[in-house]
Amino acid sequence: MKILISVFLIFYSFTIFPINCVAQNNFYKNGMVSSADEIASEIGIEVMKKGGNAIDASVAVGFALAVVYPQAGNIGGGGFMVIHLNDGRNTSIDYREKAPLLSHRDMFLDKNGNVIDGLSTTGHLSGGVPGSVKGLLFALEKYGTMKREEVLTYAINLAENGFEISPRLAKVLNEYQNQFSKFPSTMKIFGKNWKAGDLLIQKDLANTLRLISNYGAEGFYTGYVADKIVEEMKLYDGLISYEDLLKYEAKERAVVTGTYKGYEIISMGPPSSGGISLIYLLNILEQENLGKYGYGSADAISVMTEGMRVVYADRSEHMADIDFYEVPVNVLTSKEYARKRFDNFGNDRARNSDEIKPGNIAKEKENTTHYSIADKDGNCVSVTTTINDNFGSKLVIEGAGFFLNNEMDDFVSKPGVPNMFGLLGSEANSISPEKRMLSSMTPTIVLKDGKPFMITGSPGGGRIITAVLMSIINVIDFGMNIVDAVDKPRFHHQWYPDEIQAENGMLSETVRKELVKRGYKINDFRDYASLDVIIFNDNGEMRGHSDRRGYGKAIGY
Ligand code: DON
Repeated sequence: MKILISVFLIFYSFTIFPINCVAQNNFYKNGMVSSADEIASEIGIEVMKKGGNAIDASVAVGFALAVVYPQAGNIGGGGFMVIHLNDGRNTSIDYREKAPLLSHRDMFLDKNGNVIDGLSTTGHLSGGVPGSVKGLLFALEKYGTMKREEVLTYAINLAENGFEISPRLAKVLNEYQNQFSKFPSTMKIFGKNWKAGDLLIQKDLANTLRLISNYGAEGFYTGYVADKIVEEMKLYDGLISYEDLLKYEAKERAVVTGTYKGYEIISMGPPSSGGISLIYLLNILEQENLGKYGYGSADAISVMTEGMRVVYADRSEHMADIDFYEVPVNVLTSKEYARKRFDNFGNDRARNSDEIKPGNIAKEKENTTHYSIADKDGNCVSVTTTINDNFGSKLVIEGAGFFLNNEMDDFVSKPGVPNMFGLLGSEANSISPEKRMLSSMTPTIVLKDGKPFMITGSPGGGRIITAVLMSIINVIDFGMNIVDAVDKPRFHHQWYPDEIQAENGMLSETVRKELVKRGYKINDFRDYASLDVIIFNDNGEMRGHSDRRGYGKAIGY
């Protein structure tokens, strides 16, 4: 059997990936994929080589990540896809999870009204109704060119026959053994002491993917897989029902747009806070000459921090699922509002988060994963997808082979109590049946003169927005090449906690002293947020880069 598998893998690697899969340094004409996993990026390239467009490739990559990047790639979670088509149209697909019909506002509180530790983050109650399968297939049917069976075949093969795991995947699987041990269904597949090079075979997942390939979304939301999800829920007091699965729909939504110093920003609107917050921050920073201050200077960091403080205060109050709460998108993304909220700021002193309240607007841990894809015809796709935490709820649905998300933690369990990313929220983002939890995912496409300039996005919880922001201003304001723009140290501030979270190497000693003098609290922070970015030159050629913080790969041809 072992020999058979090795023969398959050798055959597979020669037939499927005979590509110049190295160089991240060059510009390519025909296609580019930057994702969190090399095998997934190779599959995206292979799909385009076979004549598929960027959307076909992004669907194949999405399903492949569900196999080779189980900590975040998923069919048990949700995500957002932002698309720029070569005819100039921009659109987005929202396949965010939603709260089950039986959920209610206080479901994570005890009888005294206190949040029950761990309930929104682990196990059956933490899962929202998954959206990924509907979303990816919606994109394929509407904007792709290939057959479902063609794009799914790669993921099915990898799940059925296994793949050799990387040192990083072995490490992360081993780190989570203790948490997996609560769930026999998870242990059955992932419970062992992993070594780099071990084969990870996922037969149940292969079967689920085959059902999706054969029957489309019905293969997931009805029949065998639906039975397995509902059985699992019944055994452990989970809430997801047949009706939840039947009613789940991906939604095509208008993108949110803005401009920054002559560039056009296309990003994801509610239920993500990402696009609005990014555009709001860029509108604030457009009033400043960051290029003059310089990357890493005390003045640039002060001004960016103050912008972040204001934007995250508004995020906590005014952003939520727009189908349930009237998010004032136009106000929040307007230049006027940014000016009003960011008036008369001098760089010489830190404000205090207690002074900053959300604006008064009249009504109108690893892991998530991002991938950026562009094809030879100028179609661009920016996808961020998640099961929230690493391996989501840690629960594999018995017999169906995939991790259920723990996205319910992105709702506000109780106003004033931060979620796992330390983010605060208000009633606007409280739990309600069929509502989608607020996200920070920020899949973004930047255009210049109507042509693709950059595709960017990242995991990182609440830090996604500022990581994406920095990828853009590092290029536009600080003139960096794509590698530096992605890899250079970053910092983050999210209103509360009132501190600058600075990655190692972000602050020189002089700058640190200066910031402390101005009144900033500084928290040295581990590396966070792993960007996957593509940039275009004036000839429309593409160069990709996958963040040094992750173990992904950008591949072009
Ligand atoms: O949608 C969100 O904002 C979160 N569920 C994303 C989680 C995430 O990025 C975790 N990765 N570090």
